[in-house]
Amino acid sequence: SRTVGRNADGVVAVGGIDVTTLAEQFGTPAYFLDEADFRARCRAWREAFQEQGEEREGEGADVFYAGKAFLSRAVVRWLNEEGLNLDVCSTGELATALAAGMPAERIALHGNNKSTAEIERAVGEGVGRIVLDSFQEIVRVAHIAQRLGKRQKVQIRVTVGVEAHTHEFIATAHEDQKFGIPLAGGQAAEAVRRALKLDGLELIGIHSHIGSQIFDTSGFEVAAHRVVGLLKEIRDEHGVELPEIDLGGGLGIAYTSEDDPREPQEIAKALRDIVHRECDAAGLAVPRLSVEPGRAIVGPTAFTLYEVGTVKELPGLRTYVSVDGGMSDNIRTALYDAEYSVALVSRASTAEPMLSRVVGKHCESGDIVVRDAFLPADLAPGDLIAVPATGAYCRSMASNYNHALRPPVVAVRDGQAREIVRRETEEDLLRLDVG
Ligand code: LLP
Repeated sequence: SRTVGRNADGVVAVGGIDVTTLAEQFGTPAYFLDEADFRARCRAWREAFQEQGEEREGEGADVFYAGKAFLSRAVVRWLNEEGLNLDVCSTGELATALAAGMPAERIALHGNNKSTAEIERAVGEGVGRIVLDSFQEIVRVAHIAQRLGKRQKVQIRVTVGVEAHTHEFIATAHEDQKFGIPLAGGQAAEAVRRALKLDGLELIGIHSHIGSQIFDTSGFEVAAHRVVGLLKEIRDEHGVELPEIDLGGGLGIAYTSEDDPREPQEIAKALRDIVHRECDAAGLAVPRLSVEPGRAIVGPTAFTLYEVGTVKELPGLRTYVSVDGGMSDNIRTALYDAEYSVALVSRASTAEPMLSRVVGKHCESGDIVVRDAFLPADLAPGDLIAVPATGAYCRSMASNYNHALRPPVVAVRDGQAREIVRRETEEDLLRLDVG
C-alpha cells in the first residue's frame, strides 16, 4: 500500500508529491506520513484479528492502537473510521483521544503510576477499561470509582516471566521491572483475589505486554499460555471465568533490510491457536482477545526528511553528514542504539557510496541519527535525505533540546499534503517561558 517511488530525475515522490516540493512547502526537518498506508495497516490488523475471532460464536478480538507511538487528532479520527480502539497512558493522550471524538468506552488507560487525577478523569469520562498495574492501584481505582458512583471495568497487568528480545525470548525465573504484577509467587493470583472483592471494580480480564520490536511469535505464545493458566486458576478458585485477555503490543517492524517482521495475520493465527488450545485443554470458554500494536501500525508509515547542511570527510574514518534535525526529532538511535537506513532522495547519483554517519545539529557527539550508512560521495549541502520508518516513537519522543523547534507531521494522501501537527515556532517556546 506504500505510495513511494522515484521519478525520472531521481527525485523521490510520496503519495504523488516530490520530496523537493514537500520540503519547499513544509520545510525540513519534517515527518511525512502516508495516510493510506496507515489506514491499510489498521485494516490489516483489525481484519486479521476479526477473522481469527469469527471462527467460533461469541468470540471476538479487538485491536487497541498504542497511542504512545504517535498520537494526534487526525490519527484518532483515522482509528475511529477504521474501527480500532485506543490505548492511552496519560491524561494528555486521553484528552487528545476525547477531543477527536474517540468514544470513551473504546479507550484503555495504562500506566504504572497513574495519578489520582488521571484515574478520576478516566473513570469520570467512562473509559472502557483501566489496566491495573500494582496492589496500591487496585485499591486506588476501586475507591475513586466508588466515590464517583461507578463500577470501573479493569484488567490486571501481569508479568509472565518472558523477556522478549529480537529473534528470541528468554524465560526469566524472576521478575525485575516496574510494570505489572508477577505471576510468580502467586502475586497475580493475590491481586485477582483483592480485585474481585472490591465493589468499585469489575474485573474483566488479564493483560500482558512482553516487550517491543519483537520478531518472534514464540514469546507471545508463552505469554498466552501463562495468562490462560492464570484464568484457569481463577476459575478453579473463584468459579469465575474472566471474559477477556489482552496480549499487548510489541510486533517489530523493518528499520533496515535485515529486519524481517511478522504479518498481522501470522501473529493473529499464532495467538488464536495457542489460546484455543490452552482453553480447550483447561475447559475454559475462549476469552475475547485484544492486542495493542503501536509501532507496527504507525512506524513504517512515515519518514523524516532532512536537509544536508555540512559534509565533513575524515580520511580513513568516515564522513559526517550533518542534517538540520537530530536527537530532538529522533532520540531512538542515541537511546536504544536503534538502526535506521537513509537515502538521498532529492536527485539521482551515480557517485561511489561512502561510509557515512548522519548526525544532528545538537551540542553533543551522541547526537546520531544513522550510525552507519552508505551515501553517495557527491553528497552536498542542500541535498535532501530521508530516514524511513520514523512514524513510531520519533515525534512522540521529540524534545526541545537546545530549544529546537519540533518538526511538523505532514499527512500525504492522493497527491495532497497537509500538516496534522504543525511545526513549533519560537512563540510556542516562549509562551511557556513565563519567568
Ligand atoms: N501496550 C503496552 C502496555 C505498552 O507498554 C506498549 C509499548 C505497547 C502496547 C505498544 O508497543 P509497540 O507495539 O509499539 O511495540 N520508546 C520505545 C518503545 C517503548 C514501548 C513502550 N510500550 C522505542 O522507541 O522503541
